[in-house]
Amino acid sequence: MSRISLSLPLIASLIASCLAAPLQQRNDTQECISTKLPTQHLAKSIDFTSCDASLGLPEALECGTYTVPVDWDHPEGEQFDLGLVRLPAPANSTSYIGPLFINPGGPGGEATGLVAALAGGALGDVEALFNAFDIIGLDPRGVGSSNQIKCDMSIYAENVSLFPTTQDEYDALFDKNKRLGESCRNLTGPLLEHVDTISAAKDHEAIRIALGDQPINFQGESYGSQLGAQYAALFPCNIRTLGLDGILQHSQGEAANLFIESSGYELSFTHFFSWASTNESSPLQGTDVEGLWIELLANASTSPIPAASCNDTTCRSTVSAEDFLFNAQGNLITPSPDASAPGTWGYLAYALQNASLGDASALSTTFGASNVPGLAISCLDWTHESSLTLEGVLAKKYLLEQHYPFTRGASQSWTIQHACLGWPALVQNPPKKLDIDTGDATILMVVSDADPSTALPWGVGMLEEIRNKSFIMRKGEGHTSLVLGGETTQVIGSYLITGEAPESGLITTS
Ligand SMILES: *[C@@H]1O[C@H](CO)[C@@H](O)[C@H](O)[C@H]1NC(C)=O
Ligand SMILES: *[C@@H]1O[C@H](CO)[C@@H](O)[C@H](O)[C@H]1NC(C)=O
Ligand SMILES: *[C@@H]1O[C@H](CO)[C@@H](O)[C@H](O)[C@H]1NC(C)=O
Ligand SMILES: *[C@@H]1O[C@H](CO)[C@@H](O)[C@H](O)[C@H]1NC(C)=O
Ligand SMILES: *[C@@H]1O[C@H](CO)[C@@H](O)[C@H](O)[C@H]1NC(C)=O
Ligand SMILES: *[C@@H]1O[C@H](CO)[C@@H](O)[C@H](O)[C@H]1NC(C)=O
Ligand SMILES: *[C@@H]1O[C@H](CO)[C@@H](O)[C@H](O)[C@H]1NC(C)=O
Ligand SMILES: *[C@@H]1O[C@H](CO)[C@@H](O)[C@H](O)[C@H]1NC(C)=O
Ligand SMILES: *[C@@H]1O[C@H](CO)[C@@H](O)[C@H](O)[C@H]1NC(C)=O
Repeated sequence: MSRISLSLPLIASLIASCLAAPLQQRNDTQECISTKLPTQHLAKSIDFTSCDASLGLPEALECGTYTVPVDWDHPEGEQFDLGLVRLPAPANSTSYIGPLFINPGGPGGEATGLVAALAGGALGDVEALFNAFDIIGLDPRGVGSSNQIKCDMSIYAENVSLFPTTQDEYDALFDKNKRLGESCRNLTGPLLEHVDTISAAKDHEAIRIALGDQPINFQGESYGSQLGAQYAALFPCNIRTLGLDGILQHSQGEAANLFIESSGYELSFTHFFSWASTNESSPLQGTDVEGLWIELLANASTSPIPAASCNDTTCRSTVSAEDFLFNAQGNLITPSPDASAPGTWGYLAYALQNASLGDASALSTTFGASNVPGLAISCLDWTHESSLTLEGVLAKKYLLEQHYPFTRGASQSWTIQHACLGWPALVQNPPKKLDIDTGDATILMVVSDADPSTALPWGVGMLEEIRNKSFIMRKGEGHTSLVLGGETTQVIGSYLITGEAPESGLITTS
């Protein structure tokens, strides 16, 4: 290791140049200022009762609702109910702190479901966390129990390419998106125009106040980090702890978003190839998995591979190269050999083996109603100016194929930029840089260096937008760290409980 030594004249000239061109300084006399939410018409508290048995939630959970305006700019206008669950700390806890919000991301992920999973042991032994907090799962507006966005799923299921290469294909995509969005507006109402992340952050503030008006504790996974950062930008003085895990940077430009997300997807895929080719728990051990993938894509381009378990009602009956490219990504999330459920490397290895034997069911495109809330949120949060012409789409496709031969541009960012073309609800929260100044509260930023979804450049990029932070990097596979149950989970848990962040720059390996 070498140290950079500075000579005295060099230091003097550095100081002189700083004096000549002063950096923008933090104004320390400025009080931290939170947006004031119009809460005068809202209930002062939330009643929690046992959850309806039909929801199938763990018995330890309690359920509640809270009525908020559809449009926070018109607090006396139309109202709707947010749904939330609480996993209460034990009554005899001696380390009780208060509520802790936890959000799984998506967008479109159900926080109620995540809390149910935690209550069911998804984090392993986290007794200290359960003793310290009432764990709150608030489904974001338009998601799950919070007035879920409804759409005509037969339009959603229409087989139209997200990679149009001709004007006719482009027009077909635009038309499908427009009709789908209109059906969502018809079936959901004006909430479709107000499911942006700023509105969702304001809902969290309303619930924080109704739960006793203590400074917030918030843990955001993946897109939940965008929600958390947005909360912090609006309400910087109302924070005790705010953890961001698997960080999304909302302010990037459109081409950059594609390039960044693809960089993570491609990197993770190459790591998967070597794992699946060599690991004893992979069904493809001893085969050239990279070659298999390329051959599958080529075969499916000529003629889509049948999906024996699908009949075009809940999933598509054939799997095209495009379907393979989009649907593999979600299976890189968890680097585990367990193949019993989607989302793992083990599952992907079996899915590829089955596809090569003629059944690609596990990688077929699904038509579940829970797919649309995330789309509706995304269409209000991200622009797609570069997709407004076919040339723009083709240029982006070319760019990504050049750099990312295994993933070829397919990613969630690509879906957002092309499934929102023609969407009838206008963008409410266009990308822009945040300047998050929480004063004394330190934000914990956690990234992993081979994340297949929230790729490392987003997390590093957010260093510009958050002033007081501690930045932790996990060296390892998979998307987000909290649920892995390793050293990083311990670091996050200890931060949430003590309020003390570890020294910035910590590197973890599990
Ligand atoms: C700092 O902020 C305070 C309060 O907003 C303001 O009065 C003061 O002028 C600011 N100082 C500078 C140097 O900008
Ligand atoms: C709280 O009560 C439970 C169940 O009665 C018991 O297992 C636990 O040890 C108690 N915890 C404390 C901190 O007293
Ligand atoms: C939405 O509702 C309008 C007015 O009732 C109707 O004309 C239109 O066909 C509907 N569109 C879709 C896609 O459901
Ligand atoms: C096989 O993969 C599993 C899961 O990633 C890992 O725990 C194990 O160490 C790997 N085996 C070898 C020999 O690398
Ligand atoms: C298609 O599959 C679904 C789900 O497996 C099943 O409920 C439905 O009956 C099937 N429809 C037809 C026409 O086979
Ligand atoms: C979907 O469209 C692709 C491209 O036109 C085609 O190859 C495939 O057969 C279609 N799938 C179904 C189930 O119609
Ligand atoms: C692969 O095929 C086998 C045999 O049909 C099936 O049991 C298994 O669930 C499939 N797994 C995946 C991930 O497709
Ligand atoms: C691709 O198609 C060829 C010709 O049908 C077949 O021999 C080969 O096994 C297929 N490859 C994969 C990976 O499915
Ligand atoms: C960050 O917060 C700590 C307390 O947690 C405080 O001492 C420090 O001044 C803050 N730093 C900045 C840059 O605001």
